[in-house]
Amino acid sequence: MERTCLAIILAAGDSTRMRSSKSKVLHEIAGRAMIGHVVEAVALAGVSTVALVVGRDADAVRKAAATANIGVESYLQKERLGTGHAVLAAREAIARGYDDILVTYGDVPLQTAGPLTAARSALADGSDVVVIGFHTEKPTGYGRLIVKDGELIAIREEKDATDAERALKWCNSGLMLINGKKALDYLTRIGNANAKREYYLTDVVEIARSLGGKVTAVDAPEAEMAGCNTRAELALIERFWQERRRHEIMLSGVTMIAPETVFLSFDTIIGQDALIEPNVVFGPGVVIGPRAVIHAFSHIEGARVEENTSVGPFARLRPGTVLNEGSRVGNFCEIKNADIAAGAKINHLTYIGDAEVGRQTNIGAGTITCNYDGVNKHKTVIGENAFIGSNSSLVAPVTIGNGAYVASGSVITDHVPDEALAFGRARQENKLERARQIRERALAFKASSAPKGT
Ligand code: UD1
Ligand code: MG
Repeated sequence: MERTCLAIILAAGDSTRMRSSKSKVLHEIAGRAMIGHVVEAVALAGVSTVALVVGRDADAVRKAAATANIGVESYLQKERLGTGHAVLAAREAIARGYDDILVTYGDVPLQTAGPLTAARSALADGSDVVVIGFHTEKPTGYGRLIVKDGELIAIREEKDATDAERALKWCNSGLMLINGKKALDYLTRIGNANAKREYYLTDVVEIARSLGGKVTAVDAPEAEMAGCNTRAELALIERFWQERRRHEIMLSGVTMIAPETVFLSFDTIIGQDALIEPNVVFGPGVVIGPRAVIHAFSHIEGARVEENTSVGPFARLRPGTVLNEGSRVGNFCEIKNADIAAGAKINHLTYIGDAEVGRQTNIGAGTITCNYDGVNKHKTVIGENAFIGSNSSLVAPVTIGNGAYVASGSVITDHVPDEALAFGRARQENKLERARQIRERALAFKASSAPKGT
């Protein structure tokens, strides 16, 4: 039978070193709160229940942790007395009885199901405590794993360590698995006789051993175990996340010319054989179809871009944009809440907002949908095979029929019927010789007003 697992995510810390008005687990990596990444990872490790331990900004943290994938219950740690104390905030959940207790941190957002699953297997193979460690050249600040004759005998916190122990480079990630039958017994024995007068979760290693339990450690990649305590670490973790996701996306069949300049969101989806040029930013909620080309310096958010489309360079797609198959949006165009039908072209210097653009329609350079009257937003509907001349203003609400033409420079305020040509501007008039007259008058004025004697 499958083993049951309770994941306890510690997220009650004060986040002092972030120097922030909010808890660090609310800070975003790739557009999603750190805590959301952690819940996602534990859900993939086959966890049955998540117990979230909250303190600072409890309501906001609970909200950010809620996902569709797994139920999350939360427990308030009223005082911050250390990681051992924090785990016991979820005592009620532990007491329900699970085979495995996974303890993880809300501020380790790059963790994946891999090491968590490996540690669960080690527990199933007979360990009572399994610590997830990682190797690093910069161990400062982490607890060190003290290994003797192949067994993990203790975790020593930096402040309590001897010089020899500080030189060790195998560190505690903070993540561990505990035998669910013994967890409460171990955890309630933790005391606070140490340099920080805190209840250290790490003490369960020695406690388990003193009670005849088996303690082992598994290794995880350093990049996955990076903890976030400062803004500098936040930026580093963002970099690791981006590198990892770009790599996955490229391996799935997407070309990136300069991947290090492309920024993805946690939920960005890109189809096979799409081409992403340098310096493209994907905000949340973007789906790019197969064979689409996203040219350099485009910014895309909340948009669906279907196959064989072309976007940019320098395009901005805002939420609610749908570019259907084979449509094109060119340089310095902004599209918002608009459905652009198959084969339509919006190639230069245009704003299309709250609109529908029909199949094969061409929108000339500099066209603007005037969708806002200062109070309300209004819609512009343009039919199929229409042609909007350059530098036109379409004052919404307005509709333009199939096959209609709008003359360049028009301000369109009324419905344009199918196949009609609409002029919304004065006709051109030529005043013959008038330019010469104006120039001569100007030159005469200059001569008469020049200072005398020069
Ligand atoms: C802890 C580990 C250390 C490990 C390091 C990895 C202990 C004693 N030390 O140290 O071995 O190398 O993490 O990053 O466990 N938290 C609470 N309530 C508390 C205290 C902490 O919820 O009372 C939460 C924090 O929000 C954070 C996590 O627990 O998510 C870790 O706490 P932190 O203070 O960062 O522990 P470290 O000193 O980094
Ligand atoms: Mg920490």
